[in-house]
Amino acid sequence: MKYKLTPSTTFTGTHKVAPDKSISHRTIMFGSLANGVTKVTNFLQGEDALSTLQAFADMGVQILRDGDKVTIYGVGINGLKAPTKPLDMGNSGTSMRLLAGILSAQSFDSTMIGDESLSKRPMERVAKPLRQMGAKVATTGERGTPPMTITGGQTLNAIRYEMPMASAQVKSCLLLAGLWATGETVVVEPEITRDHTERMLTAFGYDVKVTPLERGNQIRLTGGKELTACDIEVPADISASAFFMVAGLIAKTGDVVLPKVGINPTRTGVIDILRLMGADITLTNQTLVGGEPVADICVKSSKLHGIEIPLHLVPLAIDEFPVIFVAAACATGKTVLRGAEELRVKESDRIQVMADGLATLGIDCTVLDDGIEIVGRGESEFVFGGGEIECHHDHRIAMSFAVASLRAKDEIIINGTETVATSFPNFAKLVKEAGLNLEVIDN
Ligand code: S3P
Repeated sequence: MKYKLTPSTTFTGTHKVAPDKSISHRTIMFGSLANGVTKVTNFLQGEDALSTLQAFADMGVQILRDGDKVTIYGVGINGLKAPTKPLDMGNSGTSMRLLAGILSAQSFDSTMIGDESLSKRPMERVAKPLRQMGAKVATTGERGTPPMTITGGQTLNAIRYEMPMASAQVKSCLLLAGLWATGETVVVEPEITRDHTERMLTAFGYDVKVTPLERGNQIRLTGGKELTACDIEVPADISASAFFMVAGLIAKTGDVVLPKVGINPTRTGVIDILRLMGADITLTNQTLVGGEPVADICVKSSKLHGIEIPLHLVPLAIDEFPVIFVAAACATGKTVLRGAEELRVKESDRIQVMADGLATLGIDCTVLDDGIEIVGRGESEFVFGGGEIECHHDHRIAMSFAVASLRAKDEIIINGTETVATSFPNFAKLVKEAGLNLEVIDN
């Protein structure tokens, strides 16, 4: 599938962006393992969250879905059943890494597989600490990559693990394995990472202790207790909102309102970074929904300037950098990102793939081991030329370059846009309503 974008200058309106992907995954996992019935509203109907849903259905959990409403009949902490075939995680790293923690503690054997992009992603980051807990985990791909094969029937012992990288997926995997481990599992993060697992465990009645350290947190839980079902309303995804925020900022006529977006402080790095660049972003109607803070995000067209992105904001904006790079190209002066080597092991190598795309569109940028320098062209009406972009099975690359059409002189073609359906199935429809000239071409 392709997107063909002809230049446009307006991006306006009130738009309900896709539900939060991280939270949607976790509702299925915790709802399945809980005692009782969990009702989820505004569940993300994207392929990634549906991969998690299917995996638990394959392990005998009854899950009914009616559009974005999901009812999960929890089987209890020891109620999962052996799947009859490999669990297919599609494009979803979150599904595979978090499930590795759950599957390591089961009585049955299991195998997880993924698509071309997921099959290249590092899984030893979860396999190693799981082995320290006594799990039997093999990464059977070429270099510590999927498929993952897990031998059941092991007894897990709690460990204290200092994560070598700031990863919410590794943290969550170990906390999940810790539910079945003997003793207290302690995870130390080098920087703050998203805390949806900790919040949702608490919402399901599981005791989790969080102690702030100098930089990240230390998180502790003791195995052997139970989860109790609860109802969850999923907020809109700040990561999906980021495309709309940047579009509103760089458009000549930009004015958007994004209702009920999750503004959990472990996710709002994108707002902080864009504000440091001069963005006019305001938050209204702040409330709490299911233990998560939400707000309406209002964005107006702004003159942006380049910045050195503060290191502590990097893990808090980790999924938003592709579209932040587009904002940086539309700023005056240079933007420098360092300390972001994790971007190289996302759905694609987001530093290289973005640099290639930006260069195709005429932007001067320098790739660094752990980041990028982008020379903004904010003083020009047309920041980007035109050209053909490859998105390498990465939804966020596709959506970022679609936004670039608001400051482009010529047509932009984006190849391989089918993966947008993993996180934001109605992206094309919504951005067209907001003002983009986007045509979806099914090859
Ligand atoms: C996620 C954590 C992040 C993020 C991913 C979703 C999660 O990955 O990039 O899209 O839901 O826990 P890392 O924890 O590997 O940084």
